[in-house]
Amino acid sequence: MTIRIPSKLCPAIIVILLAILGAIAYKLIAGGSTTTAEDGRQAIVLAPQERGLILTEMRAFLSGLQGMTDALTREDMKTVAATARSLGRAATHEVPPALMAKLPLGFKQFGLSVHGDFDQIALDAESLGDPKHTLAQMGAVMQKCVACHAAFQLQSAPAAK
Ligand code: HEC
Repeated sequence: MTIRIPSKLCPAIIVILLAILGAIAYKLIAGGSTTTAEDGRQAIVLAPQERGLILTEMRAFLSGLQGMTDALTREDMKTVAATARSLGRAATHEVPPALMAKLPLGFKQFGLSVHGDFDQIALDAESLGDPKHTLAQMGAVMQKCVACHAAFQLQSAPAAK
């Protein structure tokens, strides 16, 4: 038996389906699971291992910047480029889709832009070999570290019962 849907209902059904799809897409792209922290920052609520993964990435940022600063004092542009590249966009492929869905759009944009900046720093370090230029780029990227930290916090979700 086939179910016959009155033709007048069809547009309504299409609109409802589109709205549902839109809501799902919004949740995946922009939504994120967040609440407001005591200090007013936006707190992203994650499973403990997801929070751990992001914090591990953060420590890689810090130690990368340390390594780059040290290499710059020796004008070792090869090490600068290699270290910057290890923090580039290729590093974002390790983020699982379920975790991506919990991150608010602003956070993802900040993150992607910082990874992109490190790729650019690597390219310029290779092609220009100018430590002052690299230093200026590092100063600019660190403004984004500061801005993101001012806006967001990470919280661990209580373990599921
Ligand atoms: C997309 C946003 C974002 C960007 C960009 C960002 N961070 Fe973070 N970072 C965070 C958040 C959120 C935390 C957790 C802070 C909290 O919960 O109070 C964090 C934590 C850290 C920590 C602490 C790690 C730990 O183990 O506790 C370090 C170090 C750090 N970030 C370094 C950096 C550096 C260096 C950069 C720039 C190259 C950077 N971050 C860029 C969001 C960001």
